[in-house]
Amino acid sequence: MPVKDAKSRAFAAYVEEYGEKPEYLVRAPGRVNIIGEHTDYNDGFVLPCAIDRDTVVAIGPSQDNNIKSLSCDFDAKDEFNPNQINPSSQEWAQYIRAMAKHLSLEGHQIKAAQLSLAGDVPLGSGLSSSASLEISVGLALLKQADIEIDPTQLAQIAQKAENQFVGCSCGIMDQLISAKAQKDHALLIDCRSLDTSAISIPTDVAIVIVNSGITHSNTGGEYNERRAQCEQAAQHYGVRALRDINMEILDSQRTNLEDMAYRRARHVVSENERTLSAAKALKDNDLQKLGALMRASHASMRNDFEITLPAIDSLSDMMNDIIGNNGGARMTGGGFGGCVVGITTTNKADNLIEHITAKYRTPLDKTPAIFKCKAWYGANIIN
Ligand code: GLA
Repeated sequence: MPVKDAKSRAFAAYVEEYGEKPEYLVRAPGRVNIIGEHTDYNDGFVLPCAIDRDTVVAIGPSQDNNIKSLSCDFDAKDEFNPNQINPSSQEWAQYIRAMAKHLSLEGHQIKAAQLSLAGDVPLGSGLSSSASLEISVGLALLKQADIEIDPTQLAQIAQKAENQFVGCSCGIMDQLISAKAQKDHALLIDCRSLDTSAISIPTDVAIVIVNSGITHSNTGGEYNERRAQCEQAAQHYGVRALRDINMEILDSQRTNLEDMAYRRARHVVSENERTLSAAKALKDNDLQKLGALMRASHASMRNDFEITLPAIDSLSDMMNDIIGNNGGARMTGGGFGGCVVGITTTNKADNLIEHITAKYRTPLDKTPAIFKCKAWYGANIIN
């Protein structure tokens, strides 16, 4: 039986649960980051695009004063009073409560509503299922209350919600790309000014995403620990964020900085440089250059930032061996598992998929989930 898409599932579940049709359907995509990892919270540069996988929210007015939700993917429900929002013990519901709370804190008068949610962004895979959940829920609650806000503002509220309510000190990348992405483009984002510049992905370039099958969670301590180490290094150099130093300052003023903090900083400073060069290489359709930068990024995440795992390193190596000079591959996302992204020419993509399917095994000894992704639109109201 074909698996129903997220939109049909959210719609059907809404009708079944609430006995009427939803007023709106809203979607927001997950993302893949081409390069620029752990640079966003250092006020640096990132180069993500949205993927053609979404979280979809069906929403309509509530029959009482509460916000009720139903998750098709977790087969679970949640209900809370929007005037008194407490944490939930269900992880998916935390994001809904977080958005409702922080939209209100920012002065947006959201209304009681009923929601049904379904998604096809793989969970815990470094493809930002949580940001797509936050942005779709935020946009849905705003639409239901007849409020329009700028996508950048929505992303900032979602980041705050995740930082303060969910407890992950994430940067702005995932929320901003989910809210603002453009079809067939990656966005070079300056995470200090929040300026974005859209870089067209050439039509003969394929983005191949391989899920290692190792799941991760950003709320785990390792992510917040990396952020604290970067802040400690910035303090050593006397700057607001690591964005404000270059490789020369990194080395000339390193005295008394302990080795680990130095290596964390070296990753961030070099990754910012790589990201800017990669944006140019993509614009020029120079896949050889882009591939070399992606391999250097992976090595830096492995050696200096220490967020890869041996299985992810070998998956990335396998992909790079097959891709050769026609692009490159690297782990994408927060780390400690998740996906490896490969960029190559469209005519080499099927060969890459075939070889990885034959060679890589997940920890459960399965063939990995692999998909060619289209760079997709940012969040919108569907109907
Ligand atoms: C997670 C966070 C982002 C970013 C990446 C690493 O996806 O949510 O803000 O820091 O990790 O680049």
